[in-house]
Amino acid sequence: MTFQPPYRPSGRSVWLGKDLVQTDDWIVRLSPATLEEIAASVSRLRGRNAYDTPVKRDEFPLTTMADDLARMRQEIATGRGFFVFRGLDRDRYSDNELGLIFRGFGAHFGHDLTQSAFGDRLGDIRDISDILVDRSKRRGYQSGGFQTAHTDPSGEVGIVAMLSLKMSKSGGESLIASAHTVHNMLLDWCPDLLGEFYKGFVLRRPEADAERMGRSPLIGNVPSFCYENGWLNCDFQHGYMRRAVEHGDAAIGPKQEAAIGAFVSISNHPDVMLKMILKPGDFQFINNRTILHGRAQFEDHEVKDQRRHLYRLWLNVPEWPRMPVSQSTLVAADMARWDAMAAQHRAATPAWAAS
Ligand SMILES: [Fe+2]
Repeated sequence: MTFQPPYRPSGRSVWLGKDLVQTDDWIVRLSPATLEEIAASVSRLRGRNAYDTPVKRDEFPLTTMADDLARMRQEIATGRGFFVFRGLDRDRYSDNELGLIFRGFGAHFGHDLTQSAFGDRLGDIRDISDILVDRSKRRGYQSGGFQTAHTDPSGEVGIVAMLSLKMSKSGGESLIASAHTVHNMLLDWCPDLLGEFYKGFVLRRPEADAERMGRSPLIGNVPSFCYENGWLNCDFQHGYMRRAVEHGDAAIGPKQEAAIGAFVSISNHPDVMLKMILKPGDFQFINNRTILHGRAQFEDHEVKDQRRHLYRLWLNVPEWPRMPVSQSTLVAADMARWDAMAAQHRAATPAWAAS
């Protein structure tokens, strides 16, 4: 019998990149009044290190765009699932000040989360794989190259946000796609292959991550689509699926292989994906449960300080329904352990060696 999913999404969450690229209503242009309000907050926060202390919502008021914020919270939760802020004058602010602004905006959408065992809540996305060659000392997002459409680890992470500081020489566009569109295309063209994603795939996390989390590298079977509490949630961590096969945890049969092939082809298709350049000062918020993200291949600069560089936030949104347990591969306890490890490391590291 043909597979029937429990729910077929419709409305704003189902979109095609080729349509959205014709419009710019997913771009929020910061008004002169908001830019002034931001500048005043930056002045008040002078002296604060953006990597350390969080910026609280009341320390970074955005009263000039209160209506917009309410609309955007709704849009990211149940609308298209993303938007881009534009209008910050990159040259007016230092990197640290942009970090403070970014964390300030983030506080209006959720609580920021630790992104690795290094305790970083403001992550630096930059290819330094040639400088920090030891993979175990690098964060996962400190490498370069094309990234196929994926979600970040699910559980606590509701929103993934990125702010552009520097661009590569060429390429490196941000690529996003609606997981709900991918779901419906699979349903229309190959419903039985869609069924494979509801059954799930065995995932395995990297050994170094597992060790720092105090958990087994083998995550087990995780459905890529799960409908619960009125939300159709997507978790698609392709690399983790392949890692499980490489380690002999699972085999991927011909039907599963065909399903993955269809998912990857659809989600990376130029009609489905929205390809955008994030210019320095632009920042993007995406729903990690309904939006897939990736990036185009890029040619970077030689000198580290000139390389493509973005800040990243992972935000938890307490008002949203909980992510289904079956899809929660990175949970609050894991992050608490990361924070504890980072605190131990800081305590054991003299200040002069901390950078
Ligand atoms: Fe990612």
